Amino acid sequence: MFDASDDVAVIACSHRAGGNSDAAAALLARGVREAGASARVVELRQYRVLACLACRACAAEAQSRCVLAAQDDVESLFHVLLHARAVIFASPIYFYGLPSLCKTWVDRSQRIWEARRKGDSWLAAVPERPAFACFVAGQAKGDRLFDGARLTLKYFLVNFGLSLAEPLGLRGMDAAGDLLSNAAATRAVLDMGHAAGKSVHHRSGASHAPRS
Ligand SMILES: Cc1cc2nc3c(=O)[nH]c(=O)nc-3n(C[C@H](O)[C@H](O)[C@H](O)COP(=O)(O)O)c2cc1C
Repeated sequence: MFDASDDVAVIACSHRAGGNSDAAAALLARGVREAGASARVVELRQYRVLACLACRACAAEAQSRCVLAAQDDVESLFHVLLHARAVIFASPIYFYGLPSLCKTWVDRSQRIWEARRKGDSWLAAVPERPAFACFVAGQAKGDRLFDGARLTLKYFLVNFGLSLAEPLGLRGMDAAGDLLSNAAATRAVLDMGHAAGKSVHHRSGASHAPRS
């Protein structure tokens, strides 16, 4: 799903196939490639993600492992965040936050939070890298429409060594074709892809995270 030849991971977070987030993900990947880097789109809905049990086993376990690790695809999704040279999220806003599948994945990163807290050496060795986000929302208005998703994503990603830049929030995107029928929004998304691709170029001397 994501290998050493991929520079940038574009995580598409919608539960709806062929909607605005998928369109944004394709534009972002195009922008990355136009900037000279490689990109891979990862559609979150294709993966099995079980809910955190809040059992706290990861806090006690030496490697901060999760008891659910062998039962779903969460570890392979974490692999993407640990090994990409940059990450971009393309996500709809659901009830002022991230969609439940994405939030369920976020909650499972409690084991990464524990590893960071305990100073686990495998996580300390992961380099700092940039992250970007493009949010689409149906509402035309709402000052704080993107705050919930931005904060959750920021504090999720920081434990992977990913620093989230100011997200691009697109309002009034409700029907599946709304993004692509808006030239200014399409341009802004493409520009974010260019920025992510260039960020990888600027760091071309930096090595990837160690393979686990
Ligand atoms: C469960 C659900 C909750 C939503 N909540 C909000 C919301 O709080 N604010 C908003 O502006 N749009 C909301 N929307 C609209 C979506 O953000 C909008 O339709 C978006 O374009 C969907 O992205 P997609 O085309 O990638 O699926 C919601 C949609 C769904 C399905």
